[in-house]
Amino acid sequence: EAPTGALHFDELIAAEQKIEPRDWMPDAYRKTLIRQIAQHAHSEIIGMQPEGNWISRAPTLKRKAILLAKVQDEAGHGLYLYAAAETLGINRDELVEMLVSGRQKYSSIFNYPTLTWADIGAIGWLVDGAAIVNQVPLCRCSYGPYARAMIRICKEESFHQRQGYEILYTLSHGTAGQKAMAQDAVDRWWYPSLAMFGPPDGDSTHSEQSMAWKIKRFSNDDLRQKFVDMCVPQAEILDLKLPDPDLHWNAEEGRHHYTQPDYTELMRVIKGDGPCNRQRMAHRRRAHDDGAWVREAAAAYAKKKAAA
Ligand code: ACO
Repeated sequence: EAPTGALHFDELIAAEQKIEPRDWMPDAYRKTLIRQIAQHAHSEIIGMQPEGNWISRAPTLKRKAILLAKVQDEAGHGLYLYAAAETLGINRDELVEMLVSGRQKYSSIFNYPTLTWADIGAIGWLVDGAAIVNQVPLCRCSYGPYARAMIRICKEESFHQRQGYEILYTLSHGTAGQKAMAQDAVDRWWYPSLAMFGPPDGDSTHSEQSMAWKIKRFSNDDLRQKFVDMCVPQAEILDLKLPDPDLHWNAEEGRHHYTQPDYTELMRVIKGDGPCNRQRMAHRRRAHDDGAWVREAAAAYAKKKAAA
């Protein structure tokens, strides 16, 4: 017999209504949301590292200020998402512990190095561009707190995407050396950005169930395609080449044909063996340990306030 509330849950999903924290929900729905939202939050936090790497070296004061603001936004997104996950009955300490102990994942993309200033442009254009394509549909996800958090996050991501695009545009219309640097960054970030969308649909463990629950609105491959179709005209305006000799418009199918990213590499990076996985985790653990006194002081202050 279905538990009380199960019928209501199914009706809400069918009617495109939101599931809220106090509503009954299947355990597996709760679990998959905690997994996805936590991974998403961890990605925002780890994602601060590759860009933070360039704050002190951004070419002008104005660009430093913009990059600093962007990295702060990522921290905000992380905290916002941890708060959304907490509505599902897990607390932030547990989530952070699962990140630093390696029991929960974060996006593969942040395990690649940022070698030049142009990488900051490529991250904004491609990585944040991919994030937007993936996250705009999440604004319509069936879980209310996650959907609402995504609205603000997507607005900020759009700003991030534009600042990256502007960096690349400036470089690609600068000296020959600057243009080559921009092209090199795009060459290195293109395939890892395609891989951000996850394994191909046939190998995606969670897609079918997550789509039935309307957590995911499009499959990994559908979003990847949307991203490619979006990037092609933008690359033309940038006057930069996407590093795929097979990329072409398929008029019959009404979409671009493109070369798939190396999914074996994606799996290797997800399992911890990408170019920067160890460095990212070591840095995160160190920052967490170094911040222990702040957490302790904040807790002591809150306790004192409550007592007063
Ligand atoms: N990096 C790391 N892990 C990944 C990636 C990736 N790019 N893509 C898929 N995976 C993992 C999944 O988490 C899953 O592992 P798990 O079962 O241990 O959790 C496994 O690979 C199989 O993938 P799917 O079944 O397709 O997983 P899912 O349905 O969760 O889809 C996706 C993956 C599309 C990333 C989804 O979780 C999602 O939309 N998440 C929210 C967006 C997000 O996290 N963005 C972070 C990067 S963007 C940014 O922060 C700027």
